[in-house]
Amino acid sequence: MKIKIKVIVHLFFLTVGALGIFLVSHAQSENKVSVNDLNRTYLPSKVPDRVILNLSDEPLKSVAVNWRTSVQEKNGEVQWAEATVGTGFLDQVKTKKANSEFLSVRHDENPTIESYYHAATISDLEPGKSYVYRVGYGEFWSEWFQFDMPDPSERGLTFFYFGDAQNGVRDHWSRLLRQAYLRHPQIDFSLHAGDLINRYNNDFEWGEWFGAGGFIHATVPSMMTPGNHEYGKDEQLSPQWRPQFNLPLNGPAGTEETCYQVNFPHVKMISLNAEEIEESPYLKQKQVEWLDSILTHDSREWTVITIHHPFYSTKDNRDNKDLRKHFKPLMDKHQVDLVLQGHDHGYGRGMVGASENGDITEVQAGEEGTMYVVSMAGIKMYEVLDLPWMQRRASLTQMYQLIHVSLEGVLSFEAYTADGNLYDAFELHKGPDGKNKRIDKIPDIPEYLESRK
Ligand SMILES: [Fe+2]
Repeated sequence: MKIKIKVIVHLFFLTVGALGIFLVSHAQSENKVSVNDLNRTYLPSKVPDRVILNLSDEPLKSVAVNWRTSVQEKNGEVQWAEATVGTGFLDQVKTKKANSEFLSVRHDENPTIESYYHAATISDLEPGKSYVYRVGYGEFWSEWFQFDMPDPSERGLTFFYFGDAQNGVRDHWSRLLRQAYLRHPQIDFSLHAGDLINRYNNDFEWGEWFGAGGFIHATVPSMMTPGNHEYGKDEQLSPQWRPQFNLPLNGPAGTEETCYQVNFPHVKMISLNAEEIEESPYLKQKQVEWLDSILTHDSREWTVITIHHPFYSTKDNRDNKDLRKHFKPLMDKHQVDLVLQGHDHGYGRGMVGASENGDITEVQAGEEGTMYVVSMAGIKMYEVLDLPWMQRRASLTQMYQLIHVSLEGVLSFEAYTADGNLYDAFELHKGPDGKNKRIDKIPDIPEYLESRK
């Protein structure tokens, strides 16, 4: 009898054990990967994370905000007020419900991650004033973030331009972004020229990008254009892009939040979607027609365009001839001042006139035309060629750029290395005919063309 009970007990535990092993292995095959301690910090919770301000299409009156929660919190609200010396603003708080959308994403190296993304626009704001806001719902809120509205009529416009972050975003891009902010905190917005991360749908890479920026993302509005790494092999835009950003919807149909414009009184900022220009003849043509139309009816003094793929490459075996064929005539026709690009993981800039339409090895930089810039913020580096279109270049160097557009007809551009030193600078002085006179202000240091870790 005793032996019989022992056998039954043994069988019972064997069955339970086998069931347990089956359940664990089944769960693992569902998720395939285990989440390490670092990536666990990128999982959503009821407390809002990935809080970011974006430029709205009315940048002196409103600002767009976006954040994320776990599926346990489906609702979102934004609260805001004009800043006060202490907590007095709490009596003046306005509340607005967010548009909340469910997102389920999966990458081969991530488990399936389900979350809610919340988008809202903070409106009825005034130029030059300071405001506070927080996001959340019920018991779970972010801290109060404080931001300043731009005031171009008083202080012009100042912004950062970052090339590709893409790799080592947590470990290394964070240093560059924070260095830029610490040295130049008085900026109105940041511009990211594409390839923010490496694998378009890898949610932990997006977690690194948001983590590296932290409160800077939540207090300095940004605009971004997608690069090829924001697209999958099937030419699908990153599933996170539109849920996690809240960018203008004023571009051609089919390019929402990737091709758009932001109009300040004296500066028009434009994002063109380079990947769709390269891959979709239809959306390329739509962007050509849209760009021509918005620049034809524009009387602003300055036009700045960001596009991921460069008109003129800095890298060997790269030449975007088709981009030049369709868009260079528009740069010349509308006297576009500045084109901010990425993709080539090097630094190069040059002013190219309307008469320069040859091969990339023939095009000469000159004293008039549009200023084209390629830059990189991350640690993936390619050698920069010696081409006649470039007036200053750098290889193997992490950089950020500070751009100021004054009310006195001067655009000043400064490029800094990751250690905070000035590497390149120039000014564009606007003439009465709309043409710019360039004044180089290059510091007296040689070009960095070899590895300088
Ligand atoms: Fe790229």
